[in-house]
Amino acid sequence: MATRAKQTVGEAAKGAANGAIAVLVIHGPNLNLLGEREPEVYGHTTLADIDKELKNLGRELEMKVETFQSNSEGAIVDRIQNARGKCDVLLINPGAYTHTSVAIRDAISAVNIPVIEVHLSNVYRREPFRHHSTIADIAHGRIMGFGAESYSLALRAARTIAEESRRRSA
Ligand code: DQA
Repeated sequence: MATRAKQTVGEAAKGAANGAIAVLVIHGPNLNLLGEREPEVYGHTTLADIDKELKNLGRELEMKVETFQSNSEGAIVDRIQNARGKCDVLLINPGAYTHTSVAIRDAISAVNIPVIEVHLSNVYRREPFRHHSTIADIAHGRIMGFGAESYSLALRAARTIAEESRRRSA
């Protein structure tokens, strides 16, 4: 449904207030080129396809899902800050910023939202510079190596995390 696909962070927040689990999915630099970019590594699925699948799965699991992509580190930091108090779980594939960004790590620490780190490829099967993640030790968990399916696996895990944390604070 087109109107639901245009859900904003505000709506996700309303969803959280109404009881629905709200998840924000952030895609970092160059992930807008999925489908065309190194398909032998990242597959043929486009970012639009991934986002659509996540929204569909979200509806199935009765979760509010909002997605966001930026090539800019500052814009990603802004989006994480904006999510404070508005979403239950953050799914993030920081792309190349995974390996370099202290700013994204600090933003995650600041908002106190459980984070799942997602990657399409298994970074440990690739160049050594991809083996370091600035957020690995502050993430609730990490899912990688399943191509586009990494995201749906992460969304299912997000539901479990949010339910557990709501049960704890009930
Ligand atoms: C990636 C892995 C990163 O090393 C790379 O810079 C990306 C994509 C992945 O999803 O496999 O842009 O995060």
